[in-house]
Amino acid sequence: MNIIRILPEHEARKIAAGEVVERPASVVKELIENALDAHATEISLHLINGGKSRIEIRDNGCGMSQEDARLCIAHHATSKLQSIEQLTTISTFGFRGEALASIASVSKLHIVTRQKHDDAGFHIHVEAGNIISEKPIAANIGTTIIVEDLFFNVPARKKFMKQRDTEWRAIQQLTQAIALTFPTLSLNVTHDNQPMLVTQSCATLFERSQQVFGKDIAHHLIPVPKPLKNTPITIEGVISTHQFSRYDRRYMFFHH
Ligand SMILES: Nc1ncnc2c1ncn2[C@@H]1O[C@H](COP(=O)(O)OP(=O)(O)OP(=O)(O)O)[C@@H](O)[C@H]1O
Ligand SMILES: [Mg+2]
Repeated sequence: MNIIRILPEHEARKIAAGEVVERPASVVKELIENALDAHATEISLHLINGGKSRIEIRDNGCGMSQEDARLCIAHHATSKLQSIEQLTTISTFGFRGEALASIASVSKLHIVTRQKHDDAGFHIHVEAGNIISEKPIAANIGTTIIVEDLFFNVPARKKFMKQRDTEWRAIQQLTQAIALTFPTLSLNVTHDNQPMLVTQSCATLFERSQQVFGKDIAHHLIPVPKPLKNTPITIEGVISTHQFSRYDRRYMFFHH
């Protein structure tokens, strides 16, 4: 008896999308990485309902041409890699050309983008991977991506998203880690219209951790001294005094 069947293309794509996009935090991670790859120095992120209803990310990066804006939601569409040999030297976060295609196939997606030398921006609206509309639009240089109703067309995945606060906490952890990793990045994060994280470009990790963890924790923070002599290893870090401690790992961040 034969029991193997080839899945229809659109079902296969929805399942494949689940490998890249698991929950709102994984969408946010991919979109922030794209903004950083586009050399953004300012990123704002506005979330509604833990990112389940809406994720809006705005960057001041290089933007995309009209043609690239159409192409970026295709599978295996990337500007970052041309052959597998380049994998050993690649310095961008992304290279698969899969993130936007996956996000587009399981949400209602808007991309507004403009490159420096273009007179106008371009808006493209995609639902479940299908282009609904596209038109020129007035826009600042850079890219804005809006992801609405994540998994609206994949009920099985939609059901597995957690409650608002749990999804928000995963995004908060991610944005804190990004803020600590890139002290010169200006980040502005809101959740349900409440400001949650605002960072200005700063020179040191110590300053940045004060911005990220807020005033109450800030005066319990001490920079780790850097006296490692005669070794190629450098360590930079911030720890807290014994007056501020936790029993879980929520405020532990490592980066190498
Ligand atoms: N915020 C952005 N600003 C400018 N270009 C972007 C932005 N986001 C995506 N792009 C363009 O769209 C392409 C596709 O993005 P996508 O995230 O799908 O793939 P990728 O980043 O190349 O690889 P990966 O799937 O590993 O993330 C990118 O290679 C880039 O050229
Ligand atoms: Mg990417």
